[in-house]
Amino acid sequence: MILKKEQKYIISPELNSLNRFSPKLKIAVLASGEGSNFQVLIDLAKKELFDIDIKILICNNKNAGCVKRATEEKIPYFICDESSCKNRDDFEKKIINKLIESDIELIIMAGWMKIVTEKFINSVRKKIINIHPSLLPSFKGKNPIKDALENGSLITGCSVHYVVPEVDSGELIIQGALAINKDENIQNLTNNIHEIEHLILPFAISEAGFTVRR
Ligand code: GRF
Repeated sequence: MILKKEQKYIISPELNSLNRFSPKLKIAVLASGEGSNFQVLIDLAKKELFDIDIKILICNNKNAGCVKRATEEKIPYFICDESSCKNRDDFEKKIINKLIESDIELIIMAGWMKIVTEKFINSVRKKIINIHPSLLPSFKGKNPIKDALENGSLITGCSVHYVVPEVDSGELIIQGALAINKDENIQNLTNNIHEIEHLILPFAISEAGFTVRR
C-alpha cells in the first residue's frame, strides 16, 4: 500500500464514531503525571461529545499535573501515596475501596506509573485498560519511546490494551503507528506519540465500555 503523503498516522482498527452510553459510562482515571490524556477525556465530556462520567481521578503523587487539572475542572480526586500506606496491599486496598465507593464501570490507566498486583487486577478484570507509548508487544516497560529510538526502530506508536497480571500485555483494543524519521529526536517523537494517544484513547474507552455494558 502506498501511503498518501499527508497520512501521518495509521490507526487500527479504524473507528469512526464513539459509542453512545445512556446512562453515561462511569469511569475512573488512574494517573501519575501530567494528565494530558485525562484532559482529553475531560474536554470531550464537557463538550458532550462523549457519554462518559469521570467519577474520580486516582493519583499517587499530590504534585502531579493531573491533580491540578482535576482541581481546576472540579473533578473529585483521591491521592494515594504509597509511602503513607502500611504496605503494597494496603495501598491497593485503599484504591479498590475508592473505586467501589465511586461505583466505577471502567478504569483507565493513563500514565499510571505503578505496577499493580495480580490481586488488584483480578478484582477488576476486563474492566481496566492501559495506554502505553509503544506498539505492543514491542518495547514494554518504563522507557518505550527511548527504547524504540535507540533500537533503531523505523516505526513506533502507542497501544491501548486490557490490563492483565503480566505488565504491558493483555488483549489489544487499538493501536496507532507512525514512522520514525531519520535523525528523529526523543522530544519530537514523544510529542507525536502523545498526539496519537489523544486520538485513540477515547475510542478504546468507547470499545471497552461497550464490552463492560454488554
Ligand atoms: C503517556 O505517554 C502514556 O502512554 C504513558 O504515560 C504518558 C502519560 O501522559 N503511560 P499524560 O500524563 O497523559 O500526559
